[in-house]
Amino acid sequence: MTHNKMIPVVAIDGPSASGKGTVAQRVAKALGFHYLDSGALYRLVALKSLQEDIEIADEAKLAEIAANLNVAFENDEIFLDNCRVTDEIRTEECGVVASKLASYHRVRESLVARQRAFRKSPGLVADGRDMGSVIFPDAVLKVFLTASAEIRAQRRYKQLMEKGINANIKVLLEDIRVRDDRDSNRSVAPLQKSMDARLLDTTSLSILQAQNCVLEWYKASCANRRV
Ligand code: C5P
Repeated sequence: MTHNKMIPVVAIDGPSASGKGTVAQRVAKALGFHYLDSGALYRLVALKSLQEDIEIADEAKLAEIAANLNVAFENDEIFLDNCRVTDEIRTEECGVVASKLASYHRVRESLVARQRAFRKSPGLVADGRDMGSVIFPDAVLKVFLTASAEIRAQRRYKQLMEKGINANIKVLLEDIRVRDDRDSNRSVAPLQKSMDARLLDTTSLSILQAQNCVLEWYKASCANRRV
């Protein structure tokens, strides 16, 4: 069974570089749940389209790529057509192309079932832009995790420096603003805090504080469901 309404989902949505991936992974580990990094799927479509030289305007071809992706998630590694692409999909180029093709309705449609298939016992923590609004509208807990654009640029800068990758903080800040704008203003599944999501602003929080906050909210949501 790929979609079981009884299996709890924690949906964590938010903008680029907000730290939602790190928080989501830690919450999944603490709860012993599965983890879905939905952004990785869009990045995989982007990588495949770059490998095959597909025009960004070719929605039909991009949707076909999305529908037929040959991917495997194994522990912390990601494979595309049996090749390890864990780091390759994290480049800025893949992020920018992913953000552009993510605005196509047909591409998003092609990825819906694949995302829902991650919902397996004992539970799932899913991170992205539309986890609570579109993919798992019945999530037990929906969190909109954000931070100021400046803090997000600083965090990304630190991450890149730690990996030995040169970066310019002004360029990173501009990229984040452009991506936020595109993700928030597209007509299909725009990045927005839904009414039933709880806002978690991590601008002045550590990862541990953010993680603990989500875990407490999750416990409270479960307790509320029981009464
Ligand atoms: O989260 P990440 O930065 O890896 O996602 C890459 C891009 O994929 C985002 O900029 C966004 O446009 C798109 N995306 C999306 N919906 C999701 C996850 C990611 O549109 N659920």
